Amino acid sequence: RPRVLSGIQPTAGSFHLGNYLGAVRQWVSLQETHDAFYMVVDLHAITVPQDPEELRRSSRLAAAQLLAAGLDPERCTLFVQSHVPEHAQLAWVMNCFTGFGEASRMTQFKDKSAKQGAEGTTVGLFTYPILQIADILLYHADQVPVGEDQRQHIELTRDVAARFNGRFGETFTVPAPYILKETAKIYDLQDPAVKMSKSASSPKGIIWLLDEPKKTAKKVRSAVTDTDTVVRYDPEAKPGVSNLLGIYSTLTGRSVAELEQAYAGKGYGALKTELAEVVTDWVTPFRTRTEEYMGDPETLDAILAKGAEKARAVAAETLAEVYDKVGFLPAK
Ligand code: TYM
Repeated sequence: RPRVLSGIQPTAGSFHLGNYLGAVRQWVSLQETHDAFYMVVDLHAITVPQDPEELRRSSRLAAAQLLAAGLDPERCTLFVQSHVPEHAQLAWVMNCFTGFGEASRMTQFKDKSAKQGAEGTTVGLFTYPILQIADILLYHADQVPVGEDQRQHIELTRDVAARFNGRFGETFTVPAPYILKETAKIYDLQDPAVKMSKSASSPKGIIWLLDEPKKTAKKVRSAVTDTDTVVRYDPEAKPGVSNLLGIYSTLTGRSVAELEQAYAGKGYGALKTELAEVVTDWVTPFRTRTEEYMGDPETLDAILAKGAEKARAVAAETLAEVYDKVGFLPAK
């Protein structure tokens, strides 16, 4: 079985619809066909300030949401990044094989550091993609299911992996991004020119999966479209409507062409009202399942402990090989 690995930050508390459609949904289907490793990346989370109690809670909450979304601990390995110390250990080595120049070109760093300001930007935020390199290479992942915004980090991972292999001989699998075209980038409902993101300018543009479904329905109904009335998929001319059609199509399995037909002559109102129902029908049981997992922290922690154990077995072997190749003296 080919292997997949991916991660999600626990920091926002609730996942948003972009996280689900862009990544987590694919994680769920890939566990059926791939040897799958998925993690809650708490080490990445502290690259910006976190409240310790809040971080602990949101790490459990992230795991609960992943299970609620359909990850099955019998079919995949689900763990918390900090439970596997090899991530930090390999990250150090990878730091020493990544150019300062190539790390400086990461657009996510540029965006995030601009928001934090020079004094607020930590070195951790700069080396964030290099920790991500370690995450991926430790498991010899063939594919990495993510949204479009992570593509550059995977490209960097490929470059660094190939460079290391070139110097020390075949060590790492060079991973490929796994990005589905239809859901690569889910857009903000109020500003369809930008991706849905936790740092959105208006809270109305972002669908939090754990929000009150009524509130969610209202956000969908007040999504920004355009002054035309024709329901047609055209991301260039009609980014708002196209975003809604993409979300609708993915959640229902109905093709975009079929939806265009179904809403021909009906206008945007009908589309938004019915999409609001589709979304709430999905989030309502999702919220209930998440609450159930959160209500049973022992079970949750046991799942994560087992996941960490399985992950460590793989990670330790890769790290040992790397330590040997770079010339570290074995500890006797
Ligand atoms: P994070 O936590 O920001 O996001 C989790 C996943 O959600 C995707 N995503 C989106 N997809 C489509 N449309 C959107 N609007 C949207 N917003 C977010 C992201 O692309 C991501 O796949 N650096 C990663 C976490 C990470 C990781 C890894 C991923 C750490 N180590 C190793 C893969 C492999 C991140 O911050 O994701």
